[in-house]
Amino acid sequence: MFHSSFIEINKSALRSNLRFLKRLAGPDVRYCSVIKGNAYGHGIEHFIPLAEACNIDLFAVHSADEALRAHMVKQDGSHVMIMGMIDDNELDWAIENDISFYVFEFERLEAAIKAAQLQKKRAMIHVELETGMNRIGFHWEDRNKLKKILVDHAHLLQVKGISTHYAGAESIANYLRIQNQIANFNRFQWYLRKNGVKPEMCHTACSAPLISYPQTRMDMVRVGIAQYGYWPSKETYMQYLTENGKKRMTDNPLRQIISWKTRIMSIKTVKAGEFIGYGTAYQATSQTVIATVPVGYSHGFNRSLSNLGKVLIQGRRVPVVGTVNMNMLIADVSHCPGVKRGDEVVLMGSQKNNRITVSSFSDLTRNVNYETLVRLPRDIPRFILD
Ligand SMILES: Cc1ncc(COP(=O)(O)O)c(C=O)c1O
Repeated sequence: MFHSSFIEINKSALRSNLRFLKRLAGPDVRYCSVIKGNAYGHGIEHFIPLAEACNIDLFAVHSADEALRAHMVKQDGSHVMIMGMIDDNELDWAIENDISFYVFEFERLEAAIKAAQLQKKRAMIHVELETGMNRIGFHWEDRNKLKKILVDHAHLLQVKGISTHYAGAESIANYLRIQNQIANFNRFQWYLRKNGVKPEMCHTACSAPLISYPQTRMDMVRVGIAQYGYWPSKETYMQYLTENGKKRMTDNPLRQIISWKTRIMSIKTVKAGEFIGYGTAYQATSQTVIATVPVGYSHGFNRSLSNLGKVLIQGRRVPVVGTVNMNMLIADVSHCPGVKRGDEVVLMGSQKNNRITVSSFSDLTRNVNYETLVRLPRDIPRFILD
């Protein structure tokens, strides 16, 4: 086996998430699949072919190293877009391989022009506008200089997109800020267009604005967390349910596509009064049967789940007892008759009629789903379920 746990990725759940999200975006809106953070922990190399089989042909990464990984596995017709970090000396490579990249400051714009001159090929760029997130992007005050450079170098720069990113559209607390950002974006992009810049498209929405602010969908949406089966927040989910006349929490069109599983490594019985695991974190109050599970915090099972987490064995939610170790955790299986070494343990996912969702995992660790997912190490093997 050579692995202590494994991850399964459910293709039909992905297909159904993508169908729902594309329908929500609308027929004339392009769909860009965000696969930064190792495809939110699912594995870039595993995720791209699956998404391609569902007719996705555009992938957004954060950085050049992720773009290289995506470029190695994608089909010829698919395209990679870098939304963040690329060194100036990697721009040649991006241009040569038709990889588009964000430009958000004049230094990068000038480096892109130089690289395009050297390559004798237009660089495909997305011009990121600062609209109020205060992260990356050109400022409104720079509009004149920006427009002039883009127009003067149109033979070297193909403006694939004009873009921005919203500062927390998943929370109603940010409503006014998002409305201001939308207005700032519209004013800025109109200025550029009116003055001779010809972008192929405008794109601003990630998962939450796609769902909550329809006017942000524009020509393309960049969807991450929702395609993996998670609502950006409970508020967004509630908004979807109420606006669509859904009455039950189970009317959820998004399905978690990942499961994480392992097997029991060892079973033993501990006498009442004994401490289990390191130190005095857990004391058996009665005779206890324990299962040692070969997954710990080095594998992404958060240490804060000590004496708190649950895993599924025999379809039951059984408690983690004592501290989560680097490579092992211990579960109390006293109420699992006939439990034995080699039995399946589900850390995330379903077993019989029970389920541990990534969201419940995140609630216990006080992480956001994004963080729980991206902490799953790259070397856990991933398998595809059709
Ligand atoms: C620029 C940009 N676009 C799109 C996304 C995707 O966001 P989400 O996972 O919320 O859909 C992100 C993620 O943070 C991002 O930084």
